[in-house]
Amino acid sequence: MMQGSRRTLFRSHCPAFIPLILNILLSCPISASIMEPNDELCLCFHVTRRKVENYIRIERPQRVGQLAECYGAGTGCGWCRPFLQRLFDAAQGQAADELPSATDYAKGRTTYVREGGGTPPPGATPVGEE
Ligand code: FES
Repeated sequence: MMQGSRRTLFRSHCPAFIPLILNILLSCPISASIMEPNDELCLCFHVTRRKVENYIRIERPQRVGQLAECYGAGTGCGWCRPFLQRLFDAAQGQAADELPSATDYAKGRTTYVREGGGTPPPGATPVGEE
């Protein structure tokens, strides 16, 4: 039941916010560092980059939406969905940009949430100060 509703949420909200996420990404300063394996990729459900990459490697999802089954990744505010797509694409052998540093990533999420992109669930990593 919960898994099904997460998948539906993932599919139904993802396309609408992609332009907003892209605008925020383009306005963020890019630092030289990248997201480390133990950094949280889904700040809403505390799912690390390592967990997602291991899920992709072991479970071999056929669609990016199946990553919601990895501890709910992508089913909160929606900020991480394009980044989940990047990891999914990279695992499929497609060229994908590297993920930003954890600091830049969290700042981008703050902007995204404050501009109405989504609402983090209770217990999520808090939206920070800018
Ligand atoms: S950061 Fe993943 S859903 Fe909010």
